[in-house]
This record gives sequence, C-alpha cells and structure tokens, in this order.
Amino acid sequence: MHEEVVPYLGFDPMAKQSFSPIFSSLINSRCFFVVEVEGAVKGFYRATRHEGRASHTAYLGTLAVAPEEKGSGLATRMVAEAIEDLKQQGVLRVELMLEADNPRALAFYTKLGFVHEGTLRAAYKRSNQAHYTDELLLAKLLKPLPRASDA
Ligand SMILES: CC(C)(COP(=O)(O)OP(=O)(O)OC[C@H]1O[C@@H](n2cnc3c(N)ncnc32)[C@H](O)[C@@H]1OP(=O)(O)O)[C@@H](O)C(=O)NCCC(=O)NCCS
Repeated sequence: MHEEVVPYLGFDPMAKQSFSPIFSSLINSRCFFVVEVEGAVKGFYRATRHEGRASHTAYLGTLAVAPEEKGSGLATRMVAEAIEDLKQQGVLRVELMLEADNPRALAFYTKLGFVHEGTLRAAYKRSNQAHYTDELLLAKLLKPLPRASDA
C-alpha cells in the first residue's frame, strides 16, 4: 500500500483488514513469491501459468520492489530469477500488463527484453482519478519460437 507502489498494482488503497482476504487468496494460490533481504520483505511478484494450448505461457503480475530498493538491481535479479524458475518449468513465453503511465516500469521491462505487443484501451481505473488508463501488454519469448507468420 506504499504510495509509490500502490498506483501500479491491481487494487486501490484499502485498510489492512479489507486487504486481508485478498492477501490470503494470493498466499493460498501458491503463485505469490517474496524476496527477502536480511529477513525483511523487499520485493514480491505473482507468477501464474496459462492452461491448455497456452500452457507454455506464464503471466507475471503484482510485481514491485520496496521504494528504497528502486535502482538497486534487486528488481532485475528478482525478475531474472522468476524467469529462470519459469524456464525450468518449460515456460517459453512470459507476459505481463503494465499501466501506460508507468514509464519507469516500461523502461525496466524493455531493458530486460520485454516487447510491447499491444494496448488495452481504458482497461484500468484508479478510484482517485476521473479518467481510465490504458494497459500495455508486454511479453518476452524465452527462446525463438516458430510462428506461422515467419513462413
Ligand atoms: C518497476 C520496478 C520493479 C522497477 O525496478 P527499479 O529498481 O525501479 O528498476 P531499475 O532502476 O533497474 O530500472 C528502471 C529504469 O527506468 C529508468 N527510469 C527511472 N525513472 C524513470 C522515469 N520517470 N521515466 C522513464 N524511465 C525512468 C531508470 O533510469 C532505469 O533505466 P536504466 O537502468 O537504463 O537507467 C520498481 O520501480 C517498482 O517496484 N515500481 C513500483 C511498482 C510497479 O511499478 N510495478 C510494475 C507494475 S507491472
């Protein structure tokens, strides 16, 4: 709920009590990971697998580092580790959604090889804003994959 982090996550700021069931469901999903530095939580992300014909694809979400860790390289290590884990599980494509007004995160993911594949118009709305925000679909292929359009 930190003011530098919460604008880019999926929920509006709320009291701990209200967030508790959401947090429990995140934990129970067994898809939520935290990174600790000297015993303190300094980063987190959620990694989920798609199913069926998209099972080679994983989705990264709810990703952030503590404000004091911005620019420290922790986020780069965290995403590299997440991608390596997913790769070990056979994932070939990693995708994520990013708010169009988050240039820092866009620069971050671009640096890590994610590509902007499309825009979901007005897909996101913060309760303290009158306007809707576009979301960018970013993805990274973990190795070159044959596509019909290449033929
Ligand atoms: C997104 C996040 C994980 C990136 O981690 P980070 O430690 O800040 O990332 P880095 O500092 O390694 O990289 C950010 C890049 O953006 C650049 N940058 C910084 N501020 C910027 C701005 N206002 N506009 C554009 N680029 C900016 C940096 O210079 C850096 O690029 P460089 O390494 O080439 O210099 C972190 O900022 C964060 O937790 N943000 C809040 C939550 C969030 O936005 N999550 C993503 C939602 S999907």
